[in-house]
Amino acid sequence: MPKANRFLTIEGGEGAGKTTLIRFLTTVLQERGVEVVVTREPGGSFLGEELRELILHPKPTEPLCKEAELFLFLAARSQHIETLIKPALEADKVVICDRFNDSTIAYQAAARGFDKKKVQNLCDIASLCLSPSLTLYLDVPPSIGVRRAHRRNDQNGDQIDRIEQEDLSFHEKVREGFLELAKEDPKRIRIIDTTKAPATVKRHAEELVQEWLKQIL
Ligand SMILES: Nc1ncnc2c1ncn2[C@@H]1O[C@H](COP(=O)(O)OP(=O)(O)O)[C@@H](O)[C@H]1O
Ligand SMILES: [Mg+2]
Repeated sequence: MPKANRFLTIEGGEGAGKTTLIRFLTTVLQERGVEVVVTREPGGSFLGEELRELILHPKPTEPLCKEAELFLFLAARSQHIETLIKPALEADKVVICDRFNDSTIAYQAAARGFDKKKVQNLCDIASLCLSPSLTLYLDVPPSIGVRRAHRRNDQNGDQIDRIEQEDLSFHEKVREGFLELAKEDPKRIRIIDTTKAPATVKRHAEELVQEWLKQIL
């Protein structure tokens, strides 16, 4: 049987704990002697980071329409894969990406209302059919996640971005979108309950990643 690819994605709503967990998993992998590349979407390339800024902080006088938003995310993804993800995977590195196609389905289809199948087809084109062999979906009720994200922004002196500013019902739809995807593809998408204490979340994630390493190394 061919080995699974070394592409791991971390998904979840605002304040779910993605960045925190990625830092931890990177250390776990590096301690095992695995070479890791950590990256994020939108972003990860020069163009991707420029597009990220345009998506998250557009000019207030010109609201970003949802169609343009969708295609900006997808453009950032293709460039990211070409310039960073594919070369790293080809060099046998593990790539951990903060958000990927599942976020586009959850945000653009489930929450913004685009047809799911159509968005999936666009994602297939944009991602050059690359799919992670493991996705950790960090699940948290938005009422908790958004509060955490606000507190973090205050502590870091970061501005609240356009998507974090959406109302709770938007974030509820995002969560439903992620949970539906996890139900459809339970082998790839593993759910981690991040209402639990950080140590419990880390232990669960580490178990799943250790299991995954057996399939990829
Ligand atoms: N399991 C957890 N329980 C409580 N707080 C958490 C947990 N995981 C992360 N946090 C805190 O929540 C905030 C948001 O976490 P972060 O990793 O930035 O989320 P994300 O990247 O998903 O938006 C941070 O201040 C972080 O310290
Ligand atoms: Mg983050």
